[in-house]
Amino acid sequence: MGERLGILGAGKLGTAVARLAVDAGREVLIADERKGPMIELVVSTVASGAGLVGVGEMLASSDIVLLAIPYSRVMELDLDQLAHAIVIDATNPWLEADGANPPGSPLRGRRDLRLVRSLNHVAYEELMSYAEPAGAPFRTAIAVASDDVEARRHVAALVDDLGFDPVELDGRSAWLLDATGPFFGRRLSRAEMTALVSASLRADRLTW
Ligand SMILES: NC(=O)c1ccc[n+]([C@@H]2O[C@H](COP(=O)([O-])OP(=O)(O)OC[C@H]3O[C@@H](n4cnc5c(N)ncnc54)[C@H](OP(=O)(O)O)[C@@H]3O)[C@@H](O)[C@H]2O)c1
Repeated sequence: MGERLGILGAGKLGTAVARLAVDAGREVLIADERKGPMIELVVSTVASGAGLVGVGEMLASSDIVLLAIPYSRVMELDLDQLAHAIVIDATNPWLEADGANPPGSPLRGRRDLRLVRSLNHVAYEELMSYAEPAGAPFRTAIAVASDDVEARRHVAALVDDLGFDPVELDGRSAWLLDATGPFFGRRLSRAEMTALVSASLRADRLTW
């Protein structure tokens, strides 16, 4: 599609996504607040082919930006720098110490952002080991949730390029990707995930 993927955070998730996206022929820039030879070594070994640049340069020149930083750091970002891009929030509150965070994205409700929630329910090791070409039988599914239909389609195409069947959901269903949701830690095909979405939304309606 010719878009440039920017990744904020060159940790476990960021470098795994960079590896798969580069392998799919995508142009990838990755940026981290850490600097120096160690981060250069990590990126050049795990994600060779991705460009390691400064945070400002990555944000300014990426069409899609993946937030692969701790959940607690997201609200520290200068959100104006994200206004031009499609933003994938892959962050999970469950990794944080106090466990007091509300479900969903810390950015939800920000109408000035083209926000998509995806990748939250898959571990980075699973990304690396489950990726398969389109059409593979029982290919693993990854949910892509947003009310911005065009942004969601771009992220769905990225997920497909990474090696997974995208399952598109509206923004209200983004909670399904949470650590307490039905997808977390499970390897599901698109058909299985779609059935689970219907069952979960039915059950959710019944509890109201
Ligand atoms: N790991 C997984 O399998 C997985 C799967 C799905 C979702 N997630 C989510 O993805 C996020 C990243 O997880 P991870 O396991 O990849 O964490 P990680 O290995 O700790 O990597 C995060 C990286 O982001 C850097 N960073 C922190 N704040 C930053 C900022 N403001 N700007 C630029 N870089 C910044 C960190 O640097 P410092 O170390 O110096 O702080 C670190 O290098 C988390 O929110 C997690 O919940 C992870």
